[in-house]
Amino acid sequence: MKVESINGGKSYLKHFSSESIAKQVNEGLLVATTDYSRISEVEAILICVPTPLNEYREPDLSFVLDTAESLAPYLPKGVLVTLESTTYPGTTEDELRIVLEEGSGMKAGVDFHLAYSPEREDPGREDASVKTIPKVVGGYTQECCDLAANLYSQGIDVIHRVSSCRVAEATKLLENIFRSVNIALVNELKVVYEAMNIDVHEVISAAATKPFGFMAFRPGPGLGGHCIPIDPFYLTWKAREFEKHTRFIELAGEINTAMPDYVISVVTDALNDLGKAVKGSRILILGLAYKANVDDCRESPSFVLMKKLLEKGSEVDYNDPFVPAIPDTREFSDLAGKKSVVIDQTYDLILLSTDHEEYRNFDFSDFSCQVVDTRNCIKHKPRSYFKA
Ligand SMILES: NC(=O)c1ccc[n+]([C@@H]2O[C@H](COP(=O)([O-])OP(=O)(O)OC[C@H]3O[C@@H](n4cnc5c(N)ncnc54)[C@H](O)[C@@H]3O)[C@@H](O)[C@H]2O)c1
Repeated sequence: MKVESINGGKSYLKHFSSESIAKQVNEGLLVATTDYSRISEVEAILICVPTPLNEYREPDLSFVLDTAESLAPYLPKGVLVTLESTTYPGTTEDELRIVLEEGSGMKAGVDFHLAYSPEREDPGREDASVKTIPKVVGGYTQECCDLAANLYSQGIDVIHRVSSCRVAEATKLLENIFRSVNIALVNELKVVYEAMNIDVHEVISAAATKPFGFMAFRPGPGLGGHCIPIDPFYLTWKAREFEKHTRFIELAGEINTAMPDYVISVVTDALNDLGKAVKGSRILILGLAYKANVDDCRESPSFVLMKKLLEKGSEVDYNDPFVPAIPDTREFSDLAGKKSVVIDQTYDLILLSTDHEEYRNFDFSDFSCQVVDTRNCIKHKPRSYFKA
């Protein structure tokens, strides 16, 4: 499906325009294929396949290693292979290299070149693009690093070279762990300050006026997306091999994972005010995507909220202008196919989970049902408004 779409000049990703894909296809600059034998025609290969966790929350490198196994027999001499998937230090040099060498009969750093350069995409962001986001590059040898830096510099303004693939892999993990830990911190403060009747959002905005030494992170209903909730645990797993513990990562994971339960407790209190129970109440969740104004709902906390409410016996609908129907996901396959409904006030409670622009500006002022806002984003508040 993706191959036909690209070759037909159509984008299947919201943040890439079909015009730009069509232009490149028409000019002969872009072609998609699943035929690995065409690897023999190229000078560089960038591997950007998924790196999820398995059911035991251990790294699942099968996508990376299976891809390497498939392409190795076709590797031309002198080719550059760069891994971009997020992973633990050592993957490129100790695991990917071995599969490529065994499958091709060639030696990395001698017959072909090997590097690691993490993806730094942030879909939906308008103040940065692939061109303007600096690219970190580490090579298996100095020549590998030079070649990779040269390749990326064709389209990216700033290339930052590091001394090895391991350092580049560790850099990406630091970036994601930094976010996970800081989000956990504001999530914890949200619960503590709420008990003290202090608005954490007002506090964060005030702290953000400090021109140095502070960076604003915003609390929410839990962590979403396929990076921040997952990547830190790649390091946790690898650290065990060195008999080291990643306490910050574990604690942040624990706090962030507990956030949906906090939201459910606020929903329970809001319904209780009406003399109603969670069981039997009709609830509308606003936002399925894991963050504002995108259509990506991988690892979205909205699914966790939906699941918990259904388990407690609520009738649950959702609205999301970017997600017309729930896609099939590994964890929530039983919800697949459920369709987005219109927003109205026939529900007992509306639970805002994602801060899409549309919800920020939606006029709830006439709504008589309970409204729980996990993002503190509703401008036109209803009569019965709860922060969670
Ligand atoms: N998407 C982002 O914003 C982002 C940002 C930073 C880092 N990353 C990292 O990049 C990697 C890929 O993430 P993604 O969001 O692009 O994942 P994705 O699930 O969208 O998959 C990327 C592509 O890999 C293809 N694919 C899956 N299995 C394959 C296989 N066995 N052989 C060949 N192709 C295969 C998929 O069809 C898809 O087109 C992950 O390690 C992720 O952590 C992603």
